[in-house]
Amino acid sequence: MRDSFLPFSRPSITALEIEKVTEVLESGWITTGPKIEEFEKAFAELVDAAYAVSFGSATSAFHALYFALGYGPGDEIIFPSLTWPSPLNVLENMQGEAVMVDVDRATLQMDVEATRKSITPKTKAIVVVHFAGQPVELDGFRVLAQKHNLTLIEDAAHAIHTQYGDAQVGSSENPAVFSFHAAKNITTAEGGMVTTHDLELVKKLKSIRFHGLDRDAWKRHGGKPGGYDIEQPGWKSNLTDIQAAIGLGQLERLKEIQAQREHLAHLYIEQLQNVSELILPQRVSYPHRHGWHLFQVMVDQKTARIDRDTFREELRQRNIGTGFHFRAVHTLSYFKKKYPQYLGNLPHSEWVSDSTVSLPFFPDMNEKDVHDVVSAIADVFDRS
Ligand SMILES: Cc1ncc(COP(=O)(O)O)c(C=O)c1O
Repeated sequence: MRDSFLPFSRPSITALEIEKVTEVLESGWITTGPKIEEFEKAFAELVDAAYAVSFGSATSAFHALYFALGYGPGDEIIFPSLTWPSPLNVLENMQGEAVMVDVDRATLQMDVEATRKSITPKTKAIVVVHFAGQPVELDGFRVLAQKHNLTLIEDAAHAIHTQYGDAQVGSSENPAVFSFHAAKNITTAEGGMVTTHDLELVKKLKSIRFHGLDRDAWKRHGGKPGGYDIEQPGWKSNLTDIQAAIGLGQLERLKEIQAQREHLAHLYIEQLQNVSELILPQRVSYPHRHGWHLFQVMVDQKTARIDRDTFREELRQRNIGTGFHFRAVHTLSYFKKKYPQYLGNLPHSEWVSDSTVSLPFFPDMNEKDVHDVVSAIADVFDRS
């Protein structure tokens, strides 16, 4: 057994990020300013988008986006139930209605046909999730959104470095939202980004993220004297230059980070594909590049003599940490109470919700760490 605990995730921070942060700390300007502009520009270039607008989190980016797009009471947005609940929470807090659909059981990606059936006259948007770093079938969703005059929003929280065909996720006409939470492929500790080709949307988002002001604080501070005005009240959800400095360091290291994630994923696949108690998610069949955000397995209830929670606990006792992505949103108390119609009717999401485990997966892991996880898994199943 390992003598030290292997966490499920750990950010990869090197001397480069520390040096960049120090530079900002010593510069005299530590909140939103020139480093944010540099980070936004570099991120837009990375994903082939015309513009990128940063936020304090992907959740606050969703909030600003819904507000900018004019969504409000009674408006419906369709989401997969197998996702992180915050983009649905935000809508609920704006008195909107979260509509949930099932995923494909093999690939864990949102189902186009299920989405089509859920469209009503109140539907305003579809939020697709590029789950675990694989892309959803964007063409199918694009056709659907266009036909019904809906906005397509890509939840790309897991999809830094993901490609659909040979297009970067984030390069589409429609907005995409990325996350830089500490467990994501690149991090700013907390942070989010909207990418878009729409300059009017950019102006609205920048104003919403900073009180509804018509000019950035940095521009007011450094530029020619002038007043400020608010035509529409906003919030305060800007990212800081300190965080942008971390992000710029991470972007410089992205290729190396992704190469290691891909290497670890292949090691896991090689060593786990014949473990009969586990089911591995399948790759989608259309051309893509996997962003390898998570490495998940499903505990097969037919062959394993233990359930998912016991499996996680057994691994923890062997010094192996795990994650859980995700509990189907329609099974969470608030959503179950407000939308009882979904329980029992989104069977694939419920199955994944009951059987999924995310194994340790971060770029500073090495081959021995993967070996330790695989040995611990073998030991758990041998003894149960
Ligand atoms: C699919 C998905 N969407 C949105 C979010 C929200 O991101 P953030 O924590 O940056 O608000 C997450 C975070 O884990 C996520 O996994």
